[in-house]
Amino acid sequence: MNANLNSQPTLFNSLKIDILSAWNETYWLPAHPEHHWVTKMSHEEVMTKSILNRITPKTDFKGFGFSGITQEYCPQISRVEGHNGLSSGAYRYRFESVEGSDRFDVLVVANFQSDSGFDYQVLACIPEQHVEVWSAFVRECFQILARMHAGQRVFVIGGNIREFKPDKTFDDVILPAALKADVLHAVEGFFNSGVEIYSQLDLKPFYKILLAGIPGTGKTMLTTALARWMLDQGYIVIYVSGSDCNGATFAKIERALAIAAQSECPTMILLEEIDAYLHKSQKASILNVLDGNETILNKYGTLLVATTNYPEAIDVRVKRPGRLDRIFIVPPLTDAPQAELMLKSYLDEQWHESQRALGPLLVGHTGAFVRTMALQARIAYAQQCLDAGRVPDKLPVELLMHSFDTLKAENDARDKFVKDREEQKDETETVEQVKEVEMLYS
Ligand SMILES: Nc1ncnc2c1ncn2[C@@H]1O[C@H](COP(=O)(O)OP(=O)(O)OP(=O)(O)O)[C@@H](O)[C@H]1O
Ligand SMILES: [Mg+2]
Repeated sequence: MNANLNSQPTLFNSLKIDILSAWNETYWLPAHPEHHWVTKMSHEEVMTKSILNRITPKTDFKGFGFSGITQEYCPQISRVEGHNGLSSGAYRYRFESVEGSDRFDVLVVANFQSDSGFDYQVLACIPEQHVEVWSAFVRECFQILARMHAGQRVFVIGGNIREFKPDKTFDDVILPAALKADVLHAVEGFFNSGVEIYSQLDLKPFYKILLAGIPGTGKTMLTTALARWMLDQGYIVIYVSGSDCNGATFAKIERALAIAAQSECPTMILLEEIDAYLHKSQKASILNVLDGNETILNKYGTLLVATTNYPEAIDVRVKRPGRLDRIFIVPPLTDAPQAELMLKSYLDEQWHESQRALGPLLVGHTGAFVRTMALQARIAYAQQCLDAGRVPDKLPVELLMHSFDTLKAENDARDKFVKDREEQKDETETVEQVKEVEMLYS
């Protein structure tokens, strides 16, 4: 082992591909001159124990079977057990030909990029003549992952959890019935008949929906209800999350598509706040994905459901027909009966007829507004009762009205603040532009 490399600090927080490659070249390659090696980025699926445990020795990867893993000493990576059966370190993956006359190893090195342990990178060093075997192995890992989640739990890429069970149904989401039916019919229609029609037309079965609306109208709830519906059918749902230190990266979308491509049943990819992914450097890649030309897709159909608060910020090229198939506007409360329904659901057993008076006032507000208002009023009432040593009964309408006024005043003040700032910014920009023009001609 090269003494200089040994004295390198241990790289727990970064994979440092260049140092690993140096280690490869100094240690692994000279020790294995029998092959010409290819080093490739790989995926955490090849390191996930629950997936590896499901690979049977009989599975045929282009004439080879997978016969197990042994650890390899690599001073550059601390060996740490992370979440969900992932660990850092270097490993040999052994493959043996079906008739037993040939065998080879793939060196796999993996490390966590951040302390949270959710940002994980994997490199594979493969004998050149066996790259196809390795690719078949990776595909099988994706297929096992998809099978494990079909009809069970939403698989999460990025973010801080690995999977979740969607707890909302269409009945929980209070929105115009026609809108909910329209969204569900579009999705059902795609999977029940659309996929077949796409293939008859020699088109890739990729259906893309955008849910747009101001914050708090229930877009996430609606996507959760859709996810639940998909799982109830035995289908697969992949949720792409930008809420980790890596943020909204195209690599996460790519990974979701790679899993969807290998899945053996209809698949939904959920991409919340798509506008965050559309920054300059990634926009072309995302347009490419939406076009689907270069995207590998499964034959059972892939549904992409994206959400945004800023439909106006989404490039017209993204909204062009063919890139997005349907755009649904998710509105704030549209009428008094609907507002009443929303209030009823958040007041629960504290609802009574006199609170109906608030219905018309709530039109134009969001579900999130009503929920906060109801919660604040209920907490204030519970506190009042506690102070007075009384048992809570029906929530007085005055308390609810007070909560409405306070929340509305706060929201109005916030909106005014934002508007003033934007106007100020516009004015400053105009003055600066005038100055620039004056300088140009002076
Ligand atoms: N249509 C709705 N029906 C029932 N509850 C709602 C509705 N809209 C909002 N809520 C309540 O407000 C909370 C926030 O809603 P949600 O996260 O779905 O809004 P959103 O449109 O996704 O907002 P954002 O654009 O900020 O992500 C929900 O968890 C729910 O409690
Ligand atoms: Mg949301």
